[in-house]
Amino acid sequence: MVAVSLQRALLFAGAFARLSTAQTADPTIVTEDGAVVVADETTVAPAAEVVEIPDATEPEVLLLTNAVLANLTAHDLSDIDLFTFDEDLEAVEVTVKRDGLSKRNFRVGDCKVFPGDGGWPSRLTWKVFDLLTGGALIETVPIGAVCYPNSGVYNAAKCDNVLANWAQSSLHAADPTSVMSPIYQGETCMPQNGQSGQCALGGFPSYSVKAKSVYQIQLAVNFARNKNIRLVVHNTGHDFLGKSTGAGALSIWTHNLKDIRYVKSYSTPSYSGPVMKLGAGVQVGELYAAADKNGVTAVGGECPGVGVAGGYSAGGGHSPMSSKLGLGSDQILSIDVVLPNGRFVTASETQNKDLFWALRGGGGGTFGVVTSITVKVYPKMKFSGFTFTVLTGPDTPNSDEIFWNAMFAYWRKFPEYTAKGVYGYSMVFPRGAPGSGYVWTFNPFMVPGMSLSEFKTMVGPLLTEWTSIGLQYTPEYFEVDNFYSMWTKYFPVESVANSNMRTASRMFPDTVWANTTERDALFQEVRNIVAEGSALIQYNMNPAKREGVPDSGANTHWRNAQWFAIMGAGWAPGISTEELAANNNKITHDWMARLKAWGPGGYGNEGDVMEVNFGDAFFGTNYPRLLQIKRQIDPNDLFWAPTAVGSERWKVQGQPDWLTQQTGKLCKVSN
Ligand SMILES: Cc1cc2nc3c(=O)[nH]c(=O)nc-3n(C[C@H](O)[C@H](O)[C@H](O)COP(=O)(O)OP(=O)(O)OC[C@H]3O[C@@H](n4cnc5c(N)ncnc54)[C@H](O)[C@@H]3O)c2cc1C
Ligand SMILES: *[C@@H]1O[C@H](CO)[C@@H](O)[C@H](O)[C@H]1NC(C)=O
Ligand SMILES: *[C@@H]1O[C@H](CO)[C@@H](O)[C@H](O)[C@H]1NC(C)=O
Repeated sequence: MVAVSLQRALLFAGAFARLSTAQTADPTIVTEDGAVVVADETTVAPAAEVVEIPDATEPEVLLLTNAVLANLTAHDLSDIDLFTFDEDLEAVEVTVKRDGLSKRNFRVGDCKVFPGDGGWPSRLTWKVFDLLTGGALIETVPIGAVCYPNSGVYNAAKCDNVLANWAQSSLHAADPTSVMSPIYQGETCMPQNGQSGQCALGGFPSYSVKAKSVYQIQLAVNFARNKNIRLVVHNTGHDFLGKSTGAGALSIWTHNLKDIRYVKSYSTPSYSGPVMKLGAGVQVGELYAAADKNGVTAVGGECPGVGVAGGYSAGGGHSPMSSKLGLGSDQILSIDVVLPNGRFVTASETQNKDLFWALRGGGGGTFGVVTSITVKVYPKMKFSGFTFTVLTGPDTPNSDEIFWNAMFAYWRKFPEYTAKGVYGYSMVFPRGAPGSGYVWTFNPFMVPGMSLSEFKTMVGPLLTEWTSIGLQYTPEYFEVDNFYSMWTKYFPVESVANSNMRTASRMFPDTVWANTTERDALFQEVRNIVAEGSALIQYNMNPAKREGVPDSGANTHWRNAQWFAIMGAGWAPGISTEELAANNNKITHDWMARLKAWGPGGYGNEGDVMEVNFGDAFFGTNYPRLLQIKRQIDPNDLFWAPTAVGSERWKVQGQPDWLTQQTGKLCKVSN
């Protein structure tokens, strides 16, 4: 399909005779015989060949290989090094040596190359890189730039569209670089400020590769590694910690890898049954629709836009199915991935086993670029539950005491409910100023595989208690015979991209409920923190590891969790730096600190970027082994993201100690 022709290869190879010395901004190539030609599609072809791989999806058959590189290096020109694999990391079967870490020396004080630095690629180099990727390179234009009259791309109609859809995740997911937690990008080109301000790149990457085939990812990995450019992996931009953006980076955009394949019978040493193979860009809603079409139930998150094979399952992934089926990452049977050395491999129970262990829960943007995952799917089943919304406060029948007593009664039952497979998802937001009450919404409280009459029997004692406490509420019950219609009808579509806010999270284990004194003290502490202004987005679920699921690097704190709580707050725009620091410090060093005695774990995908001792909180007892695997396969930290495994030895420059944004140069810390 796409191969490098001899003639093009000659021209291309010639290009590298001059690439490293080319100071001109003119994207021309000097060929072997001294002729000057423009670098374009007729002179440089995509660097890929078709490779036969069993079970591969369409994008996975176009690869960068030694043979492709050999064609490009036929004339022994050294600058082709820009795109070569890392020979020191050539081991195809990655097996971690328990005793040794990196064989390379870790030099203190180095930084990734930054725009404006001498080592930053010339315009010609970027152009040739673009041509080798088949024209997949995109120079970043921030999503908000269309709202800035002096940006050069001002467009009133497009700006209106961006503003009108700003809170919808689909707007951001369709853009190569937009992120749904703009705080980490530095909010330097918010469309809302278009009329008055300047649009700057801030923490956005310099370039993205719009990946549609694996060879493009391999080229980007090799190029970034060989040129010491910061590398970012970006899928939908849902990340809550700024992990899918970074100043001065080359970003690999995986959103367009959309293949979905259903396979009725598939077997591995631990499983035999139906599976789905999902490209890296498949989103939760697409997975659920495809599962429904094939008459099966899949495990994913609650929000339609989250990337299933991206950050979601890389970070563990909790699901409406979690109390029955465990984490999203527990469903994975096989993973295709481009490693830091540029090679494309499969990790499974039978090959690259350490990597297979680490990639299931060890975090996104850390061990390589996942191109697809193969996951278990389950028979169609019924779902029962209810939703309701209650208002509390002085102007309602639900006083503060009634509300909190009802909440405590509910929390007391958590272990009993998860044992029955419950997924209880509800949110508590302040209605206004302190004292004005709350809005408490269930969306939903439900159990997979349970009939409505069984569900009513299960919740009966709680509802009796609520009535005697005096809670006034009107539940809407449901029973449906499949996941998809339950999910489309009873789950909310969440709004995103709020500015001036931050979230953090804790997981509370079953041991809390073993001692009623400690349990009640926790309940009171959560109540106090909510009264101090925190939101509470809570999940009653227990993603224990089911029998037969191979061990994985997923956060061990998940396994006995009964209650997962996301907390956090916002602040008014334009407040002073001191007030900003106080607001941010309150979340990390006051609220989260107070809850850590009960819940040492937090969820790295929905966690606090400033989490103290994040290794233990986000990965539990798996952290040391994850770190060892990271050092083995990526000894020089090509992949880096805030709070990712091994991220401790780098820092984004110019950050206060109360918030890490992605707006500066990335440098090693000296220790
Ligand atoms: C509205 C909303 C609802 C959510 N609901 C849930 C939920 O129900 N359950 C749950 O568990 N989580 C949920 N999350 C959190 C979600 O799991 C994380 O935000 C997750 O990281 C999103 O992954 P992504 O690929 O879509 O996003 P991105 O921001 O694009 O990527 C997230 C991280 O994964 C890395 N990454 C992405 N793709 C790849 C790849 N192919 N290879 C390697 N690394 C990759 C990125 O580098 C980054 O570090 C929700 C988040 C939001 C904003
Ligand atoms: C290398 O070049 C030869 C000659 O043009 C061509 O036939 C072959 O397909 C190329 N191989 C690859 C892997 O691109
Ligand atoms: C429960 O916890 C409290 C406070 O930590 C402690 O004093 C008490 O001994 C514990 N009770 C039991 C039965 O362990």
